[in-house]
Amino acid sequence: MTSPLRIALIGAGVMGQQHQQHMQSLAEAELCAVADPGPQAAAFATACGVPYFADHRQMLAEMRPEAAIVANPNALHVATALDCLAADVPVLLEKPVGVRLDEVRGLVACSQASGVPVLVGHHRRHNPLIARARELIEQGALGRLTTVTALWQLQKPDSYFDIPWRRKAGAGMLLTNLIHDLDLLRHLCGEVRQVQAITHNGVRGFANEDSAAILLQFEGGALGSLTGSDAVAAPWSWELDSGENPVYPLQADQPCYLLAGTRGALSLPQLKRWHYAEDGAGWHQPLQQVQETVDGEAALRRQLRHFVQVARGRAQPLVSARDAGRTLALVEAIRQAAETGRACAPQII
Ligand SMILES: NC(=O)c1ccc[n+]([C@@H]2O[C@H](COP(=O)([O-])OP(=O)(O)OC[C@H]3O[C@@H](n4cnc5c(N)ncnc54)[C@H](O)[C@@H]3O)[C@@H](O)[C@H]2O)c1
Repeated sequence: MTSPLRIALIGAGVMGQQHQQHMQSLAEAELCAVADPGPQAAAFATACGVPYFADHRQMLAEMRPEAAIVANPNALHVATALDCLAADVPVLLEKPVGVRLDEVRGLVACSQASGVPVLVGHHRRHNPLIARARELIEQGALGRLTTVTALWQLQKPDSYFDIPWRRKAGAGMLLTNLIHDLDLLRHLCGEVRQVQAITHNGVRGFANEDSAAILLQFEGGALGSLTGSDAVAAPWSWELDSGENPVYPLQADQPCYLLAGTRGALSLPQLKRWHYAEDGAGWHQPLQQVQETVDGEAALRRQLRHFVQVARGRAQPLVSARDAGRTLALVEAIRQAAETGRACAPQII
């Protein structure tokens, strides 16, 4: 039997600790070191029973891990991932892949040239219900996808912003949160041709936006909207509606994505599908409702199992640096559209 993959954790904050918990429960993976200059990280490494390093470069040189999970602040992602690639260490890099498209281009080139893979942590794509939704769309269950409505509306507690990097450029709702929704919309509905957007920071008054209204035109012809705010007492978001992470009390009956096509419609994360008994029926006929079902292994755990396969060279990353770069390009197009008031197309990466 193959021994567990020795994985180092770089950045042991909220997200890093979630990865560590999944490593603990997965036979194919084991934590071998923690690198994080923060004040609580040494104690965390001790509690996990692994060596601690303040500096990840020293950790890479001394521990020679077989793979690394990078969950440090966004602005450090590309530089840290490049250090891992230089040490021949495959990376599971938390989203966003980077904070600027030009730096991500460098990472894509380095991963390609070195042959060392990067998997980006858009973990929701690993959720079985997203896999089923994509399958339904690809099989034509919705007909021609025509309109897409996405909601990310919840309230972060004020204490969330006590951590300084979360208030500064390089963080923000678009880059930290809506990037997940945008990534899923690309995954489900295809590439985006152009966007229009209005953003606002009127509730919190920080440098970053706390609200956004975004219009999307997909290359396949569908039109979409995504409205987001992290400052509203509302139940419509993947976090609250999907049950993916138990720290968010579940709003099981509330949808956050509504996909409608010429032959049917789908609400997510409930995976409820609607269609008419016969094509060509219309609003005077009853809509039939179908409850689709899937098995429910946690998306982060599935992502970790996939990462082990990627690091061992047995699978291609489900979300490569280039793919995640296209989601970042979409965020940049939204920012540009909000700044200029014009429709903007995402850059190709
Ligand atoms: N996939 C998801 O759903 C999800 C959810 C939350 C956060 N994230 C991502 O995870 C990353 C971390 O977010 P978080 O909420 O855990 O933040 P956090 O502030 O809780 O943790 C960040 C950690 O990185 C450490 N750090 C700072 N500089 C470092 C360096 N040079 N080297 C190594 N570690 C360093 C900090 O000390 C801290 O422990 C972010 O990129 C965020 O976007 C992803």
